[in-house]
Amino acid sequence: MQNSKADNIIIGNLNQETFDVLLNKYSGIFVLLDENTLQHCWPILKPFIKPAHPIQIASGEIHKNMETCQHIWQELMKEHADRNSVLVNIGGGVLCDMGAFAASTYKRGIDYINIPTTLLAQVDASIGGKTGINFQLLKNQIGTFCNPTAILINHHFLQTLNEKEWLCGYAEMLKHALIDSREYWKALTFLQGKRGLFSQAIDLEKLIFQSIQVKEEIVKQDPHENGIRKILNFGHTIGHAIETLSLEKDKDSLTHGEAIAIGMICESYLSKEICGLSQIDLDSITQFILSVYPPYKVLGFEDKLLHLMTHDKKNVNKAINFTLLKEIGKPLFNQTCSLDIIKKSFEYYYAVVEKINNK
Ligand SMILES: NC(=O)c1ccc[n+]([C@@H]2O[C@H](COP(=O)([O-])OP(=O)(O)OC[C@H]3O[C@@H](n4cnc5c(N)ncnc54)[C@H](O)[C@@H]3O)[C@@H](O)[C@H]2O)c1
Ligand SMILES: [Zn+2]
Repeated sequence: MQNSKADNIIIGNLNQETFDVLLNKYSGIFVLLDENTLQHCWPILKPFIKPAHPIQIASGEIHKNMETCQHIWQELMKEHADRNSVLVNIGGGVLCDMGAFAASTYKRGIDYINIPTTLLAQVDASIGGKTGINFQLLKNQIGTFCNPTAILINHHFLQTLNEKEWLCGYAEMLKHALIDSREYWKALTFLQGKRGLFSQAIDLEKLIFQSIQVKEEIVKQDPHENGIRKILNFGHTIGHAIETLSLEKDKDSLTHGEAIAIGMICESYLSKEICGLSQIDLDSITQFILSVYPPYKVLGFEDKLLHLMTHDKKNVNKAINFTLLKEIGKPLFNQTCSLDIIKKSFEYYYAVVEKINNK
C-alpha cells in the first residue's frame, strides 16, 4: 500500500485493517452508491464496511442536482446520522462530487471518504476538495471546498468500466503529463491508450499515483484556484467549448475526455504560436491524441466556439485566457490569445484530421 504525501490518499490492496483504522471512530457509517457501483463495487467493499447504511442514488450527470442531495440528506436524517457519522462515497466523479457536497453541508459538515471507481474520479474528481452539484442546467454552480478524510484508490474497480469512461480518465492523465514532465508523458503514451497494456506492461496504480501527485501538488499550492491551479485547465478552455457545442448539436455527443483531447491539440498549437512549444512536441502531442481519440468536425463552428469561450458577445474583441505549454512539462498560466489565433488553432486541428483521413 502506498500513502501519498497528503497521507489521506491510500493506494493499493484493500484490507480490513485500513477500514478499521478509518471507520472505527464513527457512530454511523453511511455508504453512497449508484446502480452501477452497487452491482460492480459494493460486493468487493461490503465485507470491509460493516455495519453500513447504504444510500442509493441514480447514476448520471442529470442526477447531480439538488433533488438527489435532498434524498441523501433525508436518508441520513431517517437513519439518525449525527455529527459523528461518516459518508463513504463509492462511485465516479458525479457521485463523489455530490456525496462530498451533501456531507460537507449536513449538520454543518460531517466527515466523508471517497472511494472513486472511475479512472477520471481516481486521477481527478476525487482529488482537490472541490464538492458540488449542478444548478439551473449549469455545471457545479453550488458547492463547497471541503477535503475528504481519506481517498481510497484501487485499480480493480476499473475493470468494469466501459471504453469511453476509461478514455475519459486517460485524457486527464495525459493532461497531467503534459503540464508535469516529459517522462510521465512518455510513460503514458507508451500505453497507446490501450488498457490491456496498462494492466500487462506497467503498474497501473503507479501511473495513477503519479497523476494524483501532479494534481495534489498543484492544489496544495493554490487550493482555491487564484493562480497556479489554473494550469490544471490546460486543454479545457477550448475543450469545454467543444464539449458544450457537441452536447447541443450531436445525438451521440462527445464525452468530456474526447472534447478535452481536442482542446489539448488546439491549445498545443496556441502554445507553439505564443510560447514557443517546439514543432516536434506539437507533432508528437497531435499525432498521439489523434491515434487514440476520434476526430471531430469543428470547421464551420468557429464563431460558435469563440462565443462559447467568451460567454458574452461583449467580449468578442477581447482576448481569452489560457494555460499553454512552453515545453512538455513546462506550463504557463494566464496566457492571452487573440480570437484570430484561436481560429487558426481550429484550422490546424481540422487540417491534420483531413490529412489523416486522406491517407
Ligand atoms: N471535483 C473535481 O475537482 C472534479 C474534477 C473533474 C471532474 N469532476 C466531475 O466528475 C464528474 C464526471 O465523473 P466521471 O467521469 O467519473 O463520470 P460518472 O461519475 O458519471 O461515472 C460514469 C459512469 O460510470 C459508472 N461507474 C462508476 N464506477 C464504475 C465501475 N467501477 N464500473 C462500472 N461502471 C462504473 C457510473 O455509475 C456512471 O454511470 C462530472 O460531474 C465532473 O463535474 C469533478
Ligand atoms: Zn477535465
